[in-house]
Amino acid sequence: MKVVNGPGGGSFLVWTLLVQLVLCGSGVYTTDHTKSCILLSESDSERKVLNRLEPLAHKNFTAETTIGTESYTYVFQLCGDAGGVPGAGVIQYDSKKTETKPKVIGRYNATQAFGGSDWVLLIYTSGDTYGERCSKEARKAMIMISCDKKAGLGQMKVELEDRQRLQDCFYLLELDSSVMCEVPESHISAGSIILIIAFCLLAIYLIGGFLYQRLIVGAKGMEQFPNYAFWVEVGNMSADGCDFVCRSQNREDARAYRGVATEPLEEEPEERDDHLLPM
Ligand SMILES: *[C@@H]1O[C@H](CO)[C@@H](O)[C@H](O)[C@H]1NC(C)=O
Ligand SMILES: *[C@@H]1O[C@H](CO)[C@@H](O)[C@H](O)[C@H]1NC(C)=O
Repeated sequence: MKVVNGPGGGSFLVWTLLVQLVLCGSGVYTTDHTKSCILLSESDSERKVLNRLEPLAHKNFTAETTIGTESYTYVFQLCGDAGGVPGAGVIQYDSKKTETKPKVIGRYNATQAFGGSDWVLLIYTSGDTYGERCSKEARKAMIMISCDKKAGLGQMKVELEDRQRLQDCFYLLELDSSVMCEVPESHISAGSIILIIAFCLLAIYLIGGFLYQRLIVGAKGMEQFPNYAFWVEVGNMSADGCDFVCRSQNREDARAYRGVATEPLEEEPEERDDHLLPM
């Protein structure tokens, strides 16, 4: 693209501001996917753990397991419909009979989340009930998500299907992800959100004003800055204010001193005239 007018520095400035604006936007708007998980009992600490998993949200992760002649496929999704089954966080279906209705192992409306520095244990309960085993209780899935720099976004495997017990049966899945290797972000305070918004507004003002001045008014050089005259005035006034407050020399003296150069030359003749008139 050819830059038609203005110095190269101008378009560089615009690009810098645009990039910052995009960063602002993404920072403010992309933290909501894990909100669709409903915690068994809402707590800030569990929410924080879920927030760390944000990059994994709403993606299907699959794993297959073979026990003897049976072969099952598991699909896990963080806070979204696993394999497209409404409400399901983890589903299981027979790999050979894909047309059969999948079993819901856990639902994301009954989530628990615990975590350490580089791992998170996610528990989905409220799954379909067992037929005969495990006291006919609801199925439950535990997903151990841990740091593995080489795993990319996520690689899942089935660790254990513990259903030979009388109760408290569960399915254990393991998901290795490089997402867990990042240092948990500190919670963004209200103050910094306000700062981010103010910064975005400033960026919009500068970019919008710049484009307006450049494209519609047709300004060039420094005048492309929005409200250039106003800001120059503000700059001058604050310089004056600073001069008034900070300068060690007394302002009266300064004026008197300045006056020596100009005023006497003009005023003295008049004064002399005044003296002369009555005579
Ligand atoms: C997950 O898988 C289901 C079924 O294959 C599909 O309908 C859905 O679009 C997938 N979701 C994502 C986010 O890929
Ligand atoms: C989750 O949803 C299922 C079906 O929609 C419902 O049967 C179950 O009671 C819900 N669980 C919780 C903890 O709300």
